[in-house]
Amino acid sequence: MTGDPRVSRKLHIKTYGCQMNVYDSARMAEALAPLGFAVTDAPGDADMILLNTCHIREKAAEKLFSDLGRLRQLKARKAGAGGTLIVAVAGCVAQAEGEEILARAPYVDLVLGPQTYHRLPEMVASLARGRGPVLDTEFPPEPKFDFLPETRAPQGVAAYLSVQEGCDKFCTFCVVPYTRGAEFSRPAADVAAEARRLIAAGAREITLLGQNVNAYHGDGQDGRVWGLGRLIRALAELPDLKRLRYTTSHPCDMDAELIAAHREVEALMPFLHLPVQSGSDRMLAAMKRRHTIADYRRTLDRLRRARPDIALSSDFIVGFPGESEEDFAATLAIVREARFAQAYSFKYSPRPGTPAAQSADQVPEATKIARLKILQDAIDAGQREFNASFLGRSMPVLFERRGRHPGQLVGRSPYQQWVHAQAPAHHQGSALPARIVAVGPNSLAGEVETAEVMA
Ligand code: SAH
Ligand code: SF4
Ligand code: F3S
Repeated sequence: MTGDPRVSRKLHIKTYGCQMNVYDSARMAEALAPLGFAVTDAPGDADMILLNTCHIREKAAEKLFSDLGRLRQLKARKAGAGGTLIVAVAGCVAQAEGEEILARAPYVDLVLGPQTYHRLPEMVASLARGRGPVLDTEFPPEPKFDFLPETRAPQGVAAYLSVQEGCDKFCTFCVVPYTRGAEFSRPAADVAAEARRLIAAGAREITLLGQNVNAYHGDGQDGRVWGLGRLIRALAELPDLKRLRYTTSHPCDMDAELIAAHREVEALMPFLHLPVQSGSDRMLAAMKRRHTIADYRRTLDRLRRARPDIALSSDFIVGFPGESEEDFAATLAIVREARFAQAYSFKYSPRPGTPAAQSADQVPEATKIARLKILQDAIDAGQREFNASFLGRSMPVLFERRGRHPGQLVGRSPYQQWVHAQAPAHHQGSALPARIVAVGPNSLAGEVETAEVMA
């Protein structure tokens, strides 16, 4: 909106954590736009800096306080030069430790949880009236989605769309149910309207987001409650939408309708992030994951029967309280058996207020480090094997953006791998068949086989 006299202030957002935070950051920028805030990449130019935080592991939360230390200096420099800087902390650390943030970092102006960011404009206004710092970590009865401006900013070829929020599962290691609150699903009509706007702005792939996305149970467009499978079927009908994905799923919520969508809905990509956390039934029970490893295996079998080429990804925690060598060996066994295309692994991090943090059976740090290394080597080997299996094969690549080298485009395979290839810039947003000619650790090199655009 150049030329608009209201655009006089600059906003810088730093996002930590998961994709839902990335989505939330974009929505917060939109909520602040009517107040004249335009987004800048340069924190030094900003009139307001917003840190959108993550509380999932201790390290993630610590980063906040070291970043805040730097902002304190920036704010002081600005004040010395006669300027001002609003410092805002949003997201999951704000929700969990709001009071502590204001006590430890009194130069912070706004602290808001994930469910109140639609109130940001009011908070900024209250600050402008000189009412002092604002702390808003309520779980308001009104869903924020009903009060936010409609998404407007183009996200590019691959876009995120939050359809579900919060979690009711209370796995014993996890802070999400406390920081994000109870499960909530957006009505299908709202999701479809937002998807249409994303497509009009250039999106060709949409990833549906939720902390527990396959627990989705939103009001459908036919007056019934829809599960995620039904929602995916409806969205797949939208013109010009080539690809759909969803993340993150819980193994217990992979219902028959969703598995059938993998068989029948062409736009639904054959890639699924389905965290298992551990290969040991004893650990799964202690984590309160609500399934056994045999249940997980059965779910993978059903998925592979529905969509034989489906690629799977997972999360793992090593060193959960009480994890023995035998438990850890069971985790390695499921990694080798399930053939994950990729996976994330973490050392167990005791989180305040979660049941597992109180367990007397904490695993020593050195053991966690050693197990993590062994697990990551096994995961890496699986990933290399998976990627190598594509050498010489052709697959459609949806090109998202220019690559580092001239004439190069970068896109994603159906299996979420990054592929770079020489292709004219106007093919951004097209899915083109590419033959894989080289396989690197983090990406594949392809040669576009035809200029014909694949559906
Ligand atoms: N809803 C998703 C996970 C969200 S959190 C699910 O149910 O699978 C993302 C990942 O962070 C988790 O899958 C888990 O592997 C990891 N994680 C969560 N809490 C953790 C903790 N306290 N310590 C280490 N890793 C953790
Ligand atoms: Fe956390 Fe996922 Fe468990 Fe919910 S289902 S408590 S988000 S790990
Ligand atoms: Fe972190 Fe909150 Fe996401 S704790 S992983 S930002 S839901």
